[in-house]
Amino acid sequence: MTLEGRCALITGARRNIGRGIALALAHAGCHVAINDIERDADAETTLYLIRQTGREAEFYTTDISNAEGVNAMIGACVERFGRLDILVNNALGPPPFGYAPFLELKEEDWDRVMAVSLKGYFLCSQAAGRVMIAQGKGGSIVSISSVHATKVYPTDMCYGVIKEGVIRMTQSMAVELSPFGIRCNAIQPGYMDTGHVYGTPPPAIGSAPETHWKALPTRRYGTPEDIGNAVVFLSSPAAGQINGVSIPIDGGLLLTGFPY
Ligand SMILES: NC(=O)c1ccc[n+]([C@@H]2O[C@H](COP(=O)([O-])OP(=O)(O)OC[C@H]3O[C@@H](n4cnc5c(N)ncnc54)[C@H](O)[C@@H]3O)[C@@H](O)[C@H]2O)c1
Repeated sequence: MTLEGRCALITGARRNIGRGIALALAHAGCHVAINDIERDADAETTLYLIRQTGREAEFYTTDISNAEGVNAMIGACVERFGRLDILVNNALGPPPFGYAPFLELKEEDWDRVMAVSLKGYFLCSQAAGRVMIAQGKGGSIVSISSVHATKVYPTDMCYGVIKEGVIRMTQSMAVELSPFGIRCNAIQPGYMDTGHVYGTPPPAIGSAPETHWKALPTRRYGTPEDIGNAVVFLSSPAAGQINGVSIPIDGGLLLTGFPY
């Protein structure tokens, strides 16, 4: 699948799943802009690995919960690469990501994680959507949700609300933006081995700890590369009629549910 010459922007992409998405898109032929609130050694490694594929890479240190910052970042990205074809909403923050027993969840934790992981997705999608419409060549917006959008685990109320919100946002964007050739889809990762090294074999079937076996039919964790491959597919012409869906990349976890 080739996305030769296109430009992709991935939020929260200095490491882990964001890095896997960035590398999959680079291997598919995209020039890649990565965003994060923090630029550290992980970010430099991700930039290096993208450039090793022969594609161009740029880093934008921006807090995606801030509209002014988002608009400046999208503008700078278009100026740098001449276009923007693919946006991947991936950022999540800050810890503890809204996780807390319901009766103990703090208002400030709710506000901050909503601001980044829901409002931030809206701000980036709106700014990128406007650019894609102006370009007149369509585009793809993929937003990273979670299996927690669908299944409940104790302490995940806030995180689950955000991730279900991402799916609902995706559906509205799909309806309103597809007349302009912009398809919008979501991905629901399951249990992940976020440290998996790109380009190495995936974890073996049966390698997940026994505590997860009952819930996880493939008995292996997902990798950032698994998520990246799905983003490449969803952003390619091969997925031209796929719009407004959320795809679990979870080894069948949603079929069985969380063990607890
Ligand atoms: N890791 C998992 O097991 C898992 C499972 C399901 C879904 N997900 C989803 O996948 C995505 C990536 O997860 P991950 O495990 O790679 O997380 P991660 O914490 O490694 O990456 C998230 C990144 O977002 C950045 N970020 C935080 N606030 C930001 C802001 N205001 N602006 C810009 N960037 C900001 C962080 O600095 C971090 O680098 C998240 O949306 C997460 O909910 C992860």
